Amino acid sequence: MNAHGQETGQAAGQAMAPGRGSSAAQANGHAVGHRGGPGAGRGAGSSDPARVVDALYRVNNFLAQVNDLHALLEAIMNESKAVVEAEASSCLLYDEATNELYFEVALGEKGDQVKEIRLPMGTGIAGQCAQERRTLVIHDVSQDPRHFKQADEKSQFQTRNLLATPMVRSDKLIGVLEVLNKTGQRDFTDDDVQIIEFFAGQAAIAIENALLIQSNLRAERLAAVGQAVAGISHYAKNILMGIKGSASLIDMALPKNDMNMIRQAWPVLQRNNNKISSLVQDMLTYSKEREPDLAPGNLNTVIEEAVELYRESATKVNVVLVCEADPAMPDSAFDVSHITDAITNLIGNSIDASADKPGATVRVSTVYQPDKKMMQAIVADNGSGIPPEIQKKIFEPFFSTKGGKGTGLGLAITRKIVREHGGSIELHSVVGEGTTFTITLPARPPEDANL
Ligand SMILES: Nc1ncnc2c1ncn2[C@@H]1O[C@H](COP(=O)(O)OP(=O)(O)O)[C@@H](O)[C@H]1O
Ligand SMILES: [Mg+2]
Repeated sequence: MNAHGQETGQAAGQAMAPGRGSSAAQANGHAVGHRGGPGAGRGAGSSDPARVVDALYRVNNFLAQVNDLHALLEAIMNESKAVVEAEASSCLLYDEATNELYFEVALGEKGDQVKEIRLPMGTGIAGQCAQERRTLVIHDVSQDPRHFKQADEKSQFQTRNLLATPMVRSDKLIGVLEVLNKTGQRDFTDDDVQIIEFFAGQAAIAIENALLIQSNLRAERLAAVGQAVAGISHYAKNILMGIKGSASLIDMALPKNDMNMIRQAWPVLQRNNNKISSLVQDMLTYSKEREPDLAPGNLNTVIEEAVELYRESATKVNVVLVCEADPAMPDSAFDVSHITDAITNLIGNSIDASADKPGATVRVSTVYQPDKKMMQAIVADNGSGIPPEIQKKIFEPFFSTKGGKGTGLGLAITRKIVREHGGSIELHSVVGEGTTFTITLPARPPEDANL
């Protein structure tokens, strides 16, 4: 061991025991309880109840985050830094497959570069800490040959002293938690070691849970992708059959110069051609990150045009379309073509849900809320309604109850468009009575339009 790097002999992961006084730091002549800078005056010593309570409180702050591994690791780093009054902290995870440690999350400007670093077991201070599964306190990093300088170089952080502790959960190594540079030019104390070990124990449990949740999610997602592919293939197959059928009719008609047959087949070909291009367009819209292209417009014009667009097809299935535009609606800035898409998706669904029902009516309206500077577009039908268990799924991409007649992309895209505008979409539905979708958007002044 290097003359400047003292190590505590404490086993990692043990619970913090306030009052435990045996101390490598003390034995080595380090000032325990010397405090300046932030947090000074809160008392010192390993039995400091204020610090213990603070640590427990901070554990709570990250235990709530197990649904999101990234957020959890960030919270662990922030809280561990605070609890021992360090300038920085890092959290390395253990990759069993390669026997390496890696940074899943690195904070700061140069975080991305730090993330590329992978540390083989036994390499550097963290690697040694992981291999030996014990806490290491390094009082002068510059004098320690084990210090893995790459992370400092990449993050442009100057590590002075550090405390590295393994995160272990039922004998399984989860990773290494490091806190760097005690604030106020001070040194880490034995007290800090106990607190950080307690902390690392709790962090290990939370990370293990988060990893478990993440792998379950991945499995669920894979299953969803499988379903999506099956649904989309079915839909695309129907379209392609339409194209093939009409193309072969035209093939037959051409040698006979049968213009009548060609005239019949041609629109079918065109319709299916349009369908397949809008399917591809929808998939692109759904998958692409976009900024709305704000242009001056009026939400009333959008619903009036959308209603006219559907007038004919609604009449064919005996659905009455009603348009009620709020006369107080001001001009505003929004992505006119995207919002039109969102509203036509809702109208199309409402017509599908109420087609050929006696008294079927789809009401499309707008409401301006001047006090909130919000505007709403509402599409209400008296169709089939949506059962509660289905309501949970309808915004998922590729979820459709229409078999080969639906892509299940309409509502997913609609919600995406609305969110891209900083708005929200709400649904109220009663089975047998009907469904109302309400889109609420910020009414931005027309001057906000992109030039
Ligand atoms: N107004 C509505 N009334 C009843 N069910 C609806 C309504 N709007 C949407 N849905 C349900 O939500 C599902 C998903 O809609 P959407 O994403 O537009 O896909 P698609 O219309 O291609 O099926 C529909 O298949 C349908 O079950
Ligand atoms: Mg739809």
